[in-house]
Amino acid sequence: MNEVINTIQTRRSIRQFNDKPISKEDLELIVDCAIHAPSGMGKDTWYFAVVTNQDLINELIDIMKVELNNNAYTMYHPTALIIPANLKDNSHGMEDNACALENIFLASHSLNIGSVWINQLRHYMDSKNLRTFLEKVGIDDSMVVYGIAALGYYDTKPVPKIRKGKFAFFE
Ligand SMILES: Cc1cc2nc3c(=O)[nH]c(=O)nc-3n(C[C@H](O)[C@H](O)[C@H](O)COP(=O)(O)O)c2cc1C
Repeated sequence: MNEVINTIQTRRSIRQFNDKPISKEDLELIVDCAIHAPSGMGKDTWYFAVVTNQDLINELIDIMKVELNNNAYTMYHPTALIIPANLKDNSHGMEDNACALENIFLASHSLNIGSVWINQLRHYMDSKNLRTFLEKVGIDDSMVVYGIAALGYYDTKPVPKIRKGKFAFFE
């Protein structure tokens, strides 16, 4: 089987991570795959904050607990976060970052690293506490965050999922 196709067809969202850290080398490889994604008009105005500092990860989780008014929110306790941001005034920013995120998920899966899209931040871009956090990781208020990636190793190998999506040929 072609390895790329196998990686695409077996990727799953992982929502339970163990404590094993991801090497910097692997994270560099994963984020390098992100910057190889297509971007509208080749603008490449994205920026990726790769966060492995557990205090920073916990700080973000705590901010989101308050914003969401949900004390049980954990972001699945990842060992790493990749936070893609893009310029507010790039009209393709959301699509570009989604392409980059998919590369992150596929590259992670190919390295047996689990990952999942975390969607909540985008709804709190006006939050002062979230903005203060984002500044700390290099994301200023000219930028916005859409989805982010939570990453970590998993104990249980993901099972491929039967897909409901439809397609048709017209030949
Ligand atoms: C736009 C988008 C937002 C998502 N947001 C979340 C999220 O906030 N939390 C989460 O656990 N999964 C999130 N997911 C993951 C989906 O739930 C998951 O991809 C879907 O259920 C299919 O499962 P699979 O990834 O294992 O194939 C999101 C996925 C996308 C594409």
